[in-house]
Amino acid sequence: MPKQLDSSNIPKHIAIIMDGNGRWARAKGQDRLYGHLSGVDSVRETLKVAAEFGVKYLTLYAFSAENWGRPQQEIDGLMELLVSSIHGELASMHENGVRLTTIGEVNKLPVACVDSLNEAISGTANNTNINLVLALNYSSREEILSATRTIVEQVQSNSLGIEEITVDSFEKALYTKGIPDPELVIRTSGEHRISNFLLWQLAYAELHFTPVFWPEFRREHLVEAIYDYQRRERRFGKTSEQVIFEK
Ligand code: IPE
Ligand code: IPE
Ligand code: MG
Repeated sequence: MPKQLDSSNIPKHIAIIMDGNGRWARAKGQDRLYGHLSGVDSVRETLKVAAEFGVKYLTLYAFSAENWGRPQQEIDGLMELLVSSIHGELASMHENGVRLTTIGEVNKLPVACVDSLNEAISGTANNTNINLVLALNYSSREEILSATRTIVEQVQSNSLGIEEITVDSFEKALYTKGIPDPELVIRTSGEHRISNFLLWQLAYAELHFTPVFWPEFRREHLVEAIYDYQRRERRFGKTSEQVIFEK
């Protein structure tokens, strides 16, 4: 553990909006896919370091529902990269005790992606060191609508009363059921927006923005983000005096 970090205050769940692959590649005179390919190195290192620090959930925003609007060639390249990365990383995921899960409308991805994801999800199901949650074909608004449909069905079939529609019962209908809310969200590439990511779950998350493009994100940048997080005072609506007194 780097000495500037407090090992007793490591976020249990870190979520990352991995952004800037295309701009990074363009600046190097390469095509956008080269940026996505290089981003896989950042994923590998971030996952390894997060596990080493004791982070229990790492959620990575890999493909948004809005990303279907990109040029078909880029979409095809991203889908192929997903399949080849899963195959290429599976052994090291096992070595590092990584359990893979997904959030999003994953079944609408190309069948080769669905197959390799399912294989990796069932193959890593007994690993307990860290959970890697890939957000794929993910839209937070769709997630909230889909949860709403589930809840309405439960009410219509009399298995849930209207007064039982609570934060807890609603969360059970989200893709993230059983996953604690992220304490820390990181967005790379200098953009300061959420882009339809975990709108419900980020209600009280700390946000860390870095100008670093995702393909250049390394151990030191994760350390910097956690360090930034540890210096925040999380008040959850209370006053600073209350928070200090409760400590
Ligand atoms: C993030 O990098 C990867 C995905 C959204 C799939 P971008 O591809 O968005 O890169 P920029 O933002 O265009 O530089
Ligand atoms: C957000 O990045 C989605 C992912 C990182 C997968 P985008 O690059 O798609 O977001 P916008 O369009 O700049 O908001
Ligand atoms: Mg982008």
